[in-house]
Amino acid sequence: MRECQIVSRKFELENSHTLEVVKAHGGYETLEKLKSHSPEEIIQMVTDANLRGKGGGGAPAGDKWKLMPQNSDKPSFLAVNCDESEPGTFKDRQIITKDPHLLIEGILITCYAIKAKHAYIYIRGEYYAYQKILQSAIDEAYEAGLLAECDITIHRGAGAYICGEKSALLESMEGKRGHPRLKPKQKEPEWYFGNPTLVNNVETIATVPFIVEHGADAYKAYGTEKSPGTLLFALSGHVEKPGVYEAEFGTPMMEYINHYGGGIKKGKKLKALIPGGVSCGVLNAQEVENLTLDYEALRAVGSSLGTGGMIVMDEDTCMVTALKNILEFYHEESCGQCTPCREGTGWVDKLVGRILDKRGTKEDIDKLLEVADTMNGKTICVFAPAVSTVIVSFIKRFRDEFEGAL
Ligand SMILES: Cc1cc2nc3c(=O)[nH]c(=O)nc-3n(C[C@H](O)[C@H](O)[C@H](O)COP(=O)(O)O)c2cc1C
Ligand code: SF4
Repeated sequence: MRECQIVSRKFELENSHTLEVVKAHGGYETLEKLKSHSPEEIIQMVTDANLRGKGGGGAPAGDKWKLMPQNSDKPSFLAVNCDESEPGTFKDRQIITKDPHLLIEGILITCYAIKAKHAYIYIRGEYYAYQKILQSAIDEAYEAGLLAECDITIHRGAGAYICGEKSALLESMEGKRGHPRLKPKQKEPEWYFGNPTLVNNVETIATVPFIVEHGADAYKAYGTEKSPGTLLFALSGHVEKPGVYEAEFGTPMMEYINHYGGGIKKGKKLKALIPGGVSCGVLNAQEVENLTLDYEALRAVGSSLGTGGMIVMDEDTCMVTALKNILEFYHEESCGQCTPCREGTGWVDKLVGRILDKRGTKEDIDKLLEVADTMNGKTICVFAPAVSTVIVSFIKRFRDEFEGAL
């Protein structure tokens, strides 16, 4: 298996979070390169690399960057999404604790490309300890004069997914869902709706310095044609060595699990796997044995690669309980704007609870599928359709377990 470290290359260095160590290992050198490239050229580099967003959807980053106006009277902004509240997803915190300066470097390049003077990093409230490390790195960058032309502000809160045209992330930064935190020396924020704002995931932005340093072809040398490059896969569940390990797209799933995860815990058999955080459809062992880690392969079996948060479940896992855990999360997290999601997440949670309590009937399993269908394609954002996909995937592959639990 080919080792590849695009984002994680400094993770193992002692004090890798400090400016001194990062600079000794080539950190921020791409900023020099920026002087010889126009913003449009940088956007073209990212487009040529076919960098795909690493926050779950896999949208081509270059296409999004191109939507940002280059000559507007309005200020442009960059919002970096560090929410990762979805169970199974914990790769971005690895970047902000092990190499926060890589993210800052990526932010500076991105802001140069989209002509933004202010970037906001949205971080979930539970990440307070990690936020402190990131803030220290930002402070170091300010002191070293690296942020002379672009401010970076961290905003702490909860719920960063995009709901339709508005984003909970931007709404929150606007102050509607919490009070913005500013460093005293920073100027007042200019966060208004209606201003061009680019939203990207932490890892997407942290990949940009590699592309600028080595070129689009160097990035495309990894991965597959349609899913080039690498992803930080977060491996959890029943494996010997859970953790975050970078691998190129197209890596066979079992090879990844055995190589980095040390195989299934205690030599047990694999039963199921969720490939990219709990919004992605569950796979059975046979599928895992035949699949590779890339967007296209996962889509072909009705699942998705999501954020690369892989949850491994061994032969002893009760799939009804596993689904109940996931549905409790969704029930709790629905923002409540859309009826099929607000009501549906509660119903499906209750239905699976009833099956687990031995009070369920065969009709309840069909009712689950019926409610899942109602939640699909009828809501503002893809939260409810994700719940629908997950329910259908569990019942399609493990119906006998649901019937056995009645
Ligand atoms: C339910 C839901 C949860 C999401 N969670 C995250 C998240 O934790 N982190 C993230 O970067 N993007 C998340 N996204 C995707 C974001 O809405 C957004 O598309 C992404 O941050 C864009 O960055 P990218 O293009 O670089 O992937 C989520 C989307 C949905 C619908
Ligand atoms: S689908 Fe759910 S999370 Fe998304 S906007 Fe509607 S109610 Fe909110």
